[in-house]
Amino acid sequence: MPQLDKVPMGRMFIDDEMRETTLRILNSGYWIKGPESKAFGAEWAEYCGALGGVPCSNGSVALIAALHALDIGPGDEVIVPSHTYIASATCISMVGATPVFVEIEEEYYTLDLESLKQAITSKTKCIIAVHLYGQPTATEIFSYAEERGIPVIEDAAQAHGASLNGKSIGSFGDIATFSFFPSKNMAVGGDGGAILANKSIDLVQKISTFIDHGRSDKYRNDVLGTNFRLSEIQCGIGRIQLKQLDQWVSRRNQIAMKYLDAFSDLDIIIPKIRDGANHAWHQFVLRVNNRDKFIKHLSNHGISTGIHYPIPCHLQPVFSNHPQGKKGALQFTEQLCDEIVSIPVFPLLTDEEVERVIVAVSSF
Ligand SMILES: Cc1ncc(COP(=O)(O)O)c(C=O)c1O
Repeated sequence: MPQLDKVPMGRMFIDDEMRETTLRILNSGYWIKGPESKAFGAEWAEYCGALGGVPCSNGSVALIAALHALDIGPGDEVIVPSHTYIASATCISMVGATPVFVEIEEEYYTLDLESLKQAITSKTKCIIAVHLYGQPTATEIFSYAEERGIPVIEDAAQAHGASLNGKSIGSFGDIATFSFFPSKNMAVGGDGGAILANKSIDLVQKISTFIDHGRSDKYRNDVLGTNFRLSEIQCGIGRIQLKQLDQWVSRRNQIAMKYLDAFSDLDIIIPKIRDGANHAWHQFVLRVNNRDKFIKHLSNHGISTGIHYPIPCHLQPVFSNHPQGKKGALQFTEQLCDEIVSIPVFPLLTDEEVERVIVAVSSF
């Protein structure tokens, strides 16, 4: 029997329109700060139902720009779930503020309201709500923060195309940040990101200025800023990918529904979807008892896996001097990180590959 290729964790989408657009922009000589950046920023903000926004270099600097726009700095505390990609937390230290790590909900893996309430102090200046794996954060987080007058940044790096009760992710917080890293739900042919603002057009302007050297004119720099811009070619590619996003998110949902159906009776914990959510299924994450054995079993069946993420942020060496940087600080998060495993859920999976994943998982 011929050996089947291993089912990967992702596959790039590249088409002729992307190739032609790349050449067209290259030949135009307009490589930065041109019409593509303007159009991509506006189209992305419109898609997400935000007031406005700008593309930027990646999802990590998007978070730094968002914190800067909210005047977060030394002496301030920012609340963030520990179970997320490290950039959600390190951005806080990068602006000189202190991350305060909290738990996630046991059912949905996004910021837990009770844990959030307990973490608030007089120094809390911001909350970062991560829509992890494409699952929208509970609306209660945003209403609670609003009552308290605490701004919220949505870290939507994994949630392009998700919505809750008909409202798009990216339109809930004061600011929302996105990553277009190649494996994300939508990409730009390299690193890339975006920052959207919802509360005021002044905030959009402040962010746009910050990511372009704080300039008001070619040779005039009014405020502190730097270069976090995204290139014209990448913005052009992003505009093309955006046209496919809804279709890709529905394919991700179709695959996820097949998995949920096939795995419902197995001795593993399957993901749940929040009521009213259109989950973007950036990752399909299972909880298993014997993860090493499970990963080996899937590998023997020709299926790739991932772990998002094996070490919670508060236990990463970079935070070893943090007051929460010890085992036992966040018990559910720590337990979860030992059990989770991600299986392929990207939209270019074929039906035959989805079946192979189902057979492999079901035979464990
Ligand atoms: C939740 C989250 N936040 C932030 C980032 C950082 O994005 P980037 O890799 O584009 O810097 C990522 C990317 O992996 C992410 O998953």
